[in-house]
Amino acid sequence: MPAPATTVVLFGATGDLARRKLLPGLLHLFASDLCDDLRVVGTSLEDFDTESFREFARTAIAEFSSHPVTDQQWDDFDDRLTFVRSDAGPDALRKAVEEAESHFPQGSQRLHYLSVPPKAALSVLAELHQAGLVERSRVIMEKPFGTDLASAKKLNAAVHEYFDESQIFRIDHFLGKEAALNILAFRFANGLFEPIWHRNNIDHVQIDVPETLGLETRAEFYESTGAYRDMVVTHLFQVLAFTAMEPPTSLEPDAITEEKNKVFRSMMPLNPEDVVRGQYLGYRDMKGVGPESETETFIALKCYIDNWRWAGVPFYLRTGKKMAEGARIISIAFKEPPKSMFPSGSGVGQHGPDHLTFDLADKARMSLSFYGKRPGPGFRLDKLSMQFAMGDTDWAGGALEAYERLIYDAIRGDHTLFTTADGIERLWEVSQPLLDNPPPVRPYDPGTYGPNQIHQLIAPRGWRLPFERKWREPTV
Ligand code: BG6
Repeated sequence: MPAPATTVVLFGATGDLARRKLLPGLLHLFASDLCDDLRVVGTSLEDFDTESFREFARTAIAEFSSHPVTDQQWDDFDDRLTFVRSDAGPDALRKAVEEAESHFPQGSQRLHYLSVPPKAALSVLAELHQAGLVERSRVIMEKPFGTDLASAKKLNAAVHEYFDESQIFRIDHFLGKEAALNILAFRFANGLFEPIWHRNNIDHVQIDVPETLGLETRAEFYESTGAYRDMVVTHLFQVLAFTAMEPPTSLEPDAITEEKNKVFRSMMPLNPEDVVRGQYLGYRDMKGVGPESETETFIALKCYIDNWRWAGVPFYLRTGKKMAEGARIISIAFKEPPKSMFPSGSGVGQHGPDHLTFDLADKARMSLSFYGKRPGPGFRLDKLSMQFAMGDTDWAGGALEAYERLIYDAIRGDHTLFTTADGIERLWEVSQPLLDNPPPVRPYDPGTYGPNQIHQLIAPRGWRLPFERKWREPTV
């Protein structure tokens, strides 16, 4: 579907996210004809002008674009970029936007992308109001959406002073990942698994997102954020909602949002005793970090969704920096059969329960592990698996990066994959006991899976990572 003519006003246009994701993503949307009536007005505090901004964008795109970019594509895109310094004031901003819009005599809309820290977001909204750029506009806001319930409410109220909720798109890029969307396809387009997607058959769920990268360039931002606010209250809880929600009545935004919010409403407040916070050794020596910092760079927790489908089923979430490997998995552990004819020593149950695993890596994969008979005399059992890799299909090249997809959706006004004020506020509500009473941070060595306490948290179960078996490499 062709997108309406749009001027993207990119706040934080020279920042890290713009460089790595937003500028390459906008070029790709333009070059792939999904948004061919597109202009971009970049703005930031950097001492740039249009020419140096174009140069900046060109370098960023060359370095970070996930698709090959031809000279022709760049040349077509290049003169659609302009820049205005953010301290030039609302009139200059308005003029720059109007100049961009003059290329769309048929009429156009505005998309304000706020790639700025939360403190700056409110003044940007006020400036948009002063500049008269609220009408015909949508706003994409970046997390964190507050730091607790009170601040989230304040932020939402302030946003609503100038913009209607229907204009607001709170972005969570995990929900734009193809692999995350495939959870919905897998669950709701097939009759096979949905009947057993239930506390009667599922023992527990793990959502595990270890990262190998550290905080070299971001420690100052991270120091006041920490792993819980940076990753859990945003990405991991959103993925949890996709995994746990009831079948929506349709693929419409309201239907999906309603089911996600029902999951959040059913979540039990977090118990600080079910949380392990960690900090990698060396973090306190970083620039911008205090020598006694209590900010967690790692978190693992157990939470519950207290509804008919999930009552009593623990969800284990884990994420952290400088860990042993980078992965994003959701693992559904099935209950063992109630009785077994296989004697102990046959291998039954020896490698844990059967699992269905979604790997949300950029090259999405899925596997189903089960016990099977080893060939030969007697009845020895071993864990086997069926694996699917999206890379093996003919579709693999058609993927949109998460940010590309979400910007495209916002341009078309589709809220399906964005979070709402209600949903966010509820997540802060369930977080409050942890925020009020955080357990102490435990040190861990870089290159590990976190502090030792993670094993007590999940016992008598065990963490899926590191995998005991290798994934099959895709054939292409
Ligand atoms: C960001 C967090 O939102 O997500 C980062 O701020 C994190 O700390 C990143 O590294 C992970 O996203 P992805 O898509 O690289 O897994």
